[in-house]
Amino acid sequence: MSTDREHVIATATDPVVREFLRMADDSIVAVLPYALSVAAHLGVADELRDSARTVEDLARVLGLSSGALERLLRTLASCGFFTDHGEGLFALTRLGRLLQTDSPVSMRATLANVDSYRAWLGAVDTIATGRPAFDNEFGAGFFTHKDGDCQVGATFDERMRERAGRLYAGLATLPVWKDTRCLLDIGGGKGAVLASVLTANPHVSGILFDRRSVVERAEASGELAPLRDRCRTEPGDFFQEIPGGADAHLMCSVLHDWEDDDAVTILRRSREALPADGRLLICEMLLPSSGEAHPAWWSDLGMMVVLGGRERTLDRYRSLLRRAGLRLSEVTRLPDSFFSVLEARRERC
Ligand SMILES: C[S@@+](CC[C@H](N)C(=O)[O-])C[C@H]1O[C@@H](n2cnc3c(N)ncnc32)[C@H](O)[C@@H]1O
Repeated sequence: MSTDREHVIATATDPVVREFLRMADDSIVAVLPYALSVAAHLGVADELRDSARTVEDLARVLGLSSGALERLLRTLASCGFFTDHGEGLFALTRLGRLLQTDSPVSMRATLANVDSYRAWLGAVDTIATGRPAFDNEFGAGFFTHKDGDCQVGATFDERMRERAGRLYAGLATLPVWKDTRCLLDIGGGKGAVLASVLTANPHVSGILFDRRSVVERAEASGELAPLRDRCRTEPGDFFQEIPGGADAHLMCSVLHDWEDDDAVTILRRSREALPADGRLLICEMLLPSSGEAHPAWWSDLGMMVVLGGRERTLDRYRSLLRRAGLRLSEVTRLPDSFFSVLEARRERC
C-alpha cells in the first residue's frame, strides 16, 4: 500500500507539495516552520555569529533550558541550519545565516512571525464564512491588532522591511523615476522602499505616508535619516485622505491587503491627490489567468485567511482602476521577482 502511495506522491508536479507529502507522515513538515520560528525568535543565530559555542553557554546567555535548546539545535543541525560538533558544541552554517538579524540574507523577522499560523488554526471558519480567521483568533482586524500593541506593530514593520529588500530590489532602478520629481509612498512602512528609490535617484524627493504608529516608528528607526534634506513623513489614513504634493504615488503590497471595494476607495483617494499628469505605481504579484503554479496562489489564500484581502489577475486590477477613475497605462515585471509594477494614470473626464 505504501508503495502505491509513494507512487501517487511522486506524481505531484509541485516539488514543495511532493516533499510535504513525503515528510508529513513523520510530522517533520508540521514541526519545521515552528522550530525555525522559535529559533529565529530566540535569536540563537545571533549568539553564534562569531564562533561556535556550547549549548550550556547559549542557554545561560539566553535564559533557556539547555536540554530543550540542545534538542532544538540538533534537529535544526540535522537539516543544515547549524553544525553539531558533538559534546554540545554548535556553530552557524551558511544556511543558518537566514536566522541572523543583521545578515544580508536575513529572514529572521519573516521566520519568527507566528501571527499567520495562529490565524490558519481557524481557517475552516474562513472557508465557511468568507471572513478572515485572524479577526476571530485575535479579537481584532489585522492592522487594528498592530495598533493595539507597539511590539507587535514593530515586529510587523520589520518583517515588511526585510521582505521588501528581497522582493522589490529591482524597483529603485526602473526608468520611471527619471521623470519623477516627488514620490509619495502610500502604506510605505518603515521607509525601506522609499529610501532605496531616493538613494538610487538623487533628483527625486519623497514623502512616506502610513498609519501614525508606523510613521512614528519609521522616524525613530532612522531609516530615512540620511535622506532628511529631500524626504519627510506624513501620518494618515488612506481611506480618508491621501496628501497632495507628489507627482508619483507608489503602493507596494497595499491593495492585496483589501477586498475590492476597499481597494477602490484607496485608489480613489490616490486619484484625488494626484495632479492631472501624475501617475500611480502599484507593485503587486499578479495571479496567472490560467491555473499554472505561481506563488500568488498561496499568497491569495494567505490574504484571505489573515487580512481578508486577495491577490488579483491583471484584468481584475484593470477593472478596479477603471472604477476609481484611473486607467492602466503600463505593466513592467520586476527583474528577479514575482512582482510586477502596474502604472496607472488619471482617466480624462
Ligand atoms: C503589507 S504592508 C506593506 C508595506 C510596504 N509598502 C512594503 O511593501 O514593504 C501594508 C502597509 O499599509 C499600511 N496601512 C494599513 N492601513 C492603512 C491606512 N488605513 N492608512 C495608511 N496606511 C495603512 C500598513 O501600516 C502597512 O505599512
